[in-house]
Amino acid sequence: MIRLAILASGGGSNMQAIVDAYKFGVLKGLAEVVLVISNNANAFVLERARKENIKSVCIERKSFKDDEFFNKAIFTKLQVASVDLVCLAGYMRMIDKEILKVYNRRILNIHPALLPKFGGKGMYGHFVHEAVVKAGVKKSGATVHFVNEEYDSGKIILQKEVEISKSDTPGDIAKKVLEAEHKIYPQAIKKVIEEKFEVKNDFSLY
Ligand code: GAR
Repeated sequence: MIRLAILASGGGSNMQAIVDAYKFGVLKGLAEVVLVISNNANAFVLERARKENIKSVCIERKSFKDDEFFNKAIFTKLQVASVDLVCLAGYMRMIDKEILKVYNRRILNIHPALLPKFGGKGMYGHFVHEAVVKAGVKKSGATVHFVNEEYDSGKIILQKEVEISKSDTPGDIAKKVLEAEHKIYPQAIKKVIEEKFEVKNDFSLY
């Protein structure tokens, strides 16, 4: 079983989709969430973790004197839990370079748009959907990608499009995109596990 950690700052509906996928769906027998980390004490994702009996921890930046100590705390939790893959699910902070090195090509993120469009610094959550409405595009969607040192620019693993109608508000688009996210995140994790850990065991693939 591949050991997943989820890093999340908010509601955690993607975390729930991943948990449901190994309880009832495409990740059954392949993976399990062994750790949920949130940088926000009020995040509903922590409540979800408690309900699912998953070990969870809140690591807030303000509890540490600097970034180095904050990042070390996250790194230690990942190591102690023997995590294989890290899934960012609405995690609103950059991942530390040292963590990226150790978990090279083992950190995934979900973004609420069709990257490389509507990505980059400042493009998260509702800002993305507002920009999509402003641009007047007919399609948006969700992207799962590997995390590297730049925002939203790592190799794409899976994408799913959603149609946008002229009357859609940013909230309407967020809803449609979240539905797509819940489908592709578990599928993308499955793809990575099969290609990386099971079939070829070749990290150079990504
Ligand atoms: C999701 O739409 C996710 O794509 C987005 O935050 C939401 C979290 O929802 N992430 C980003 O914008 C990161 N750039 P959730 O907490 O219900 O999973």
